[in-house]
Amino acid sequence: MCGIVGYLGDREALEVLVDSLRRLEYRGYDSAGFASIVRSGGANDLEVRKAPGYIDAMASEMERKGARIGIGHTRWATHGVPNQVNAHPHCSCDGTIAVAHNGIIDNHTTLKDELASKGHEFRSQTDSEVIPHLIEEYYDGDLEEAVARAVERLEGSFAFLAIHRDHPDRIVCYREKSPLVLGKGAGEGFIASDVTALLSYTNSFLYMEDGETAVVKADGISVRNRDGDHVDRTWKLVDWRPEDAEKSGFKHFMIKEIHEQPRSMHQTLAGWMSDEDALPPRLVRARTIKIVSCGTSYHAGLLGKYLFERYAGIPTTVEMASEYRYADRTEEDSLVILISQSGETADTIAAAREAKRRGMFTLAVTNVLGSTISREADHTLYLRSGPEIGVAASKTFTSQVMMMYLLSSTIGHRTGHIGRDEFRKVKDGLRSAIRAVEKVLGDTEAVKAQAEWLSSAHHAFFLGRYINFPAALEASLKMKEISYIHSEGYPAGELKHGPLALLQKDTPVIALISDDHTYSKMLGNIGECAARSSPVLVVAPEGDSEVSRYTDRILRYPWIDPMFSPLAISVTMQLLAYYVADLRGCSIDKPRNLAKSVTVE
Ligand code: F6R
Repeated sequence: MCGIVGYLGDREALEVLVDSLRRLEYRGYDSAGFASIVRSGGANDLEVRKAPGYIDAMASEMERKGARIGIGHTRWATHGVPNQVNAHPHCSCDGTIAVAHNGIIDNHTTLKDELASKGHEFRSQTDSEVIPHLIEEYYDGDLEEAVARAVERLEGSFAFLAIHRDHPDRIVCYREKSPLVLGKGAGEGFIASDVTALLSYTNSFLYMEDGETAVVKADGISVRNRDGDHVDRTWKLVDWRPEDAEKSGFKHFMIKEIHEQPRSMHQTLAGWMSDEDALPPRLVRARTIKIVSCGTSYHAGLLGKYLFERYAGIPTTVEMASEYRYADRTEEDSLVILISQSGETADTIAAAREAKRRGMFTLAVTNVLGSTISREADHTLYLRSGPEIGVAASKTFTSQVMMMYLLSSTIGHRTGHIGRDEFRKVKDGLRSAIRAVEKVLGDTEAVKAQAEWLSSAHHAFFLGRYINFPAALEASLKMKEISYIHSEGYPAGELKHGPLALLQKDTPVIALISDDHTYSKMLGNIGECAARSSPVLVVAPEGDSEVSRYTDRILRYPWIDPMFSPLAISVTMQLLAYYVADLRGCSIDKPRNLAKSVTVE
């Protein structure tokens, strides 16, 4: 987690750093800091400013002194509480070297002991502080050489930027299992954890790989690999627009991204049309499928399980990435699908490596071009949702779900499990789901009205069956993470096996129903909840009249083929969580304790 940025060029470095770091705050926002080199009285000064809290609070107070080089950091605390001392950048004893780090140094305790015995004094409780001290230990006038020697001693996952007071012409960066991307402009160089930070400055990027060191100078950027050889990779042009990473008049990124869904869903569908012909044959030969992912991506995977079994007839299991490594089984002819919006989630990446070690074919489904997972997997499918800045996933979820429909039906069609008509019905169904989502977003008043009474709840239950069971889990996750209302998602039939004991008159139940074979059972479950005096909100398709016999709290979504209802329902539930959280005055784009890219295991 944590976001790091670096700039070197003719602009006021702090302006660029503040602006780009603000766009990385989704990666962590406990504290922030900057280091820059300024000329003062004929000498170079290394200036460091850092503070707990959001970047904006400190940025307005920082004096701009015309620095042309600097690094910045926004933190998601792992070692040491979020305070000024633990904020990055960290410095060497003599204050000449500053380092901004993202990741974890596993052997920091040993290194700290060793360096302390050599006289180094540590000020923070962080693991990161060992990096500038190690560089200082090896520094003999050559910053690159000192960094090269330091990284040989580091264990863990880390990407960092280092500057030295006496070398105001360069930033040295290194990547090992944490993302780092280089950007170039005319006479200037940029570094960031993620391209979204830099879209206003450049669209020409080079994704660094593990073991690579880059030296960024105004007249060029050079990259070397672990063996010291020059790396000559093609720079990629990224077609995301800067406005994709702006709020564009919306109050929060999340509500903007919710409203972008008709477009992002279209993009996923259009992208698929160009990708489907190039699917590797191994996908079609899979005898079983294992989907591995975390959080919202896990919920998309759970939905995928029903779809792979329905459209492709392939037995599918879904595992949380953090648990995958503990399973002992080896299934050589299994296809492992790794779903990760960011492509940087440490647990999912570890699962990808484990799956490859076990000899399985791995398919990544991600939104981020050049992300770690896309480089590690045997094949990658891109969501093409556009950048998602809000910490809570919204548009990438609907794209992931669409990808599950597209992939499962294509495999099923190629293996002959479904015929051409059914295959065509899936794409038609997805197009009508996009139209349904457009309608949901066209009139949000009814959702706002339900959000009013829900906003005072302390607990809530979300229920669904079959393909709307994962939708209930996802709706519940959205509600709890952005509104801080404790909520649980359950398969509706499971409620009476325990959780029913918790239902009372102030425990709302939100039931997701569709007009399919689960309908009458869902009505029965709604009745059970209402009988325990729980206020029940039913999310039902337009035209259904039965539900009004059980409750007068009903949210309607446009009628579509029930097989595609999770898409319309999920968008309705994203809106509900958003409006509840807004009424409660929550920090919607940056919920407490969370970060968008979870790069620690
Ligand atoms: C919730 C959310 C998280 C992520 C999870 C996995 O709204 O965004 O639960 O889904 O951290 O992230 P990715 O998909 O980047 O691997």
